[in-house]
Amino acid sequence: MTAHMHVPLTDLAGLYASIRDEVDPAVQRVLSSGYYILGPEVESFEKAVAAYCGVPHAVGVASGTDALELALMACGIGAGDEVITTPFTFIATVESIVKCGATPVFVDIEPHTWNMDVSLVEGRIGPRTKAILPVHLYGQACDMTRLMELARAHDLRVIEDCAQALGARWNGQVVGSFGDAGCLSFFPSKVLGALGDGGMVVTGSGEVAERVRILRNHGARTKYYHLVNGFNSRLDSLQAAVLRVKLGHLDDWLRARKSLAALYGDGLLSAPGIAAPEVVTGADHIFNYYTVRVQGGKARREALAQDLKERGVATAVYYPVSLHLQQVYRNLGYKPGSFVESERAQDEVLSLPMCPLVSEAQARYVVDSVCEAAATVRCAG
Ligand SMILES: Cc1ncc(COP(=O)(O)O)c(C=O)c1O
Repeated sequence: MTAHMHVPLTDLAGLYASIRDEVDPAVQRVLSSGYYILGPEVESFEKAVAAYCGVPHAVGVASGTDALELALMACGIGAGDEVITTPFTFIATVESIVKCGATPVFVDIEPHTWNMDVSLVEGRIGPRTKAILPVHLYGQACDMTRLMELARAHDLRVIEDCAQALGARWNGQVVGSFGDAGCLSFFPSKVLGALGDGGMVVTGSGEVAERVRILRNHGARTKYYHLVNGFNSRLDSLQAAVLRVKLGHLDDWLRARKSLAALYGDGLLSAPGIAAPEVVTGADHIFNYYTVRVQGGKARREALAQDLKERGVATAVYYPVSLHLQQVYRNLGYKPGSFVESERAQDEVLSLPMCPLVSEAQARYVVDSVCEAAATVRCAG
């Protein structure tokens, strides 16, 4: 019998402590500068992220949600347009489509990656379709080869939701650099997390970048000269300074995440009725979340989560209700059964602790706990 341990989903304070001697001077520098919104700290962080993503432009905004909305607007998406996306994602993806006046059109997901099933996209393209919004869920890229071919063939814009996938690659190319724009989130639990909210639009297009720059700052290029109706959506200097320090550690942290995923993957082979995440050929999964499928449905997933909680292992469900079944989107006319894979996923996904600081002993404890719990709750549901 293994001794009881506590394994949190992530350890943000621990990550800060591990780089405190770099973060604290960066914070002090900003405090003493008297420059707190945008400015040189944001500019140098934007340059660093653009280089990291292999694109010429990056524009810091207030959140990942704003990054999506501003990118859609900058790509000319608005009232009367349709945007094809996945129902199995965080609500911000779809909120941003609705906020810019367009209509989300869902396609179901692939069962093995939980990403949008690209083979279903063509069937949903109509005269009002203007864009495709793929989400690289949990940190694994969508099939961007097929998606970009389709977008080119139908002259559609592509806005990538990379909120969970900074640094993930498809055939060696970093996500966010395929489409017209890539949207990043620096929400604290993301692989590159701020001390609050933050986001960024990365793009190969100078025009899109310039539009986002104007939109984020009350629609003005020059202060008090407003060209369009804009937003107050700027990245704080403090966040940029801290994020730039963290960006220097990102590759090490992603390596640690991948090693932990490999350890989990091997160990979970002996967990009955638990399927470890599949990494498809071409994808370089960065495991923002390590999500398994609990076979046997919702009741078994919940019993397993409760059992793990009692053993000290934290878990989370991203996401328990597919967006086509949310009350807020009833007007779109979808029903239970509209997207069977998304509905199966909402009942079966379970995310395990994932953080660069999880020790080998903790990882083994998680694996042993899942194996034991899965054997105990074998028949429930
Ligand atoms: C897939 C996805 N899209 C968009 C967002 C929105 O990002 P933010 O919380 O920074 O607004 C998130 C994360 O919260 C997300 O997971």
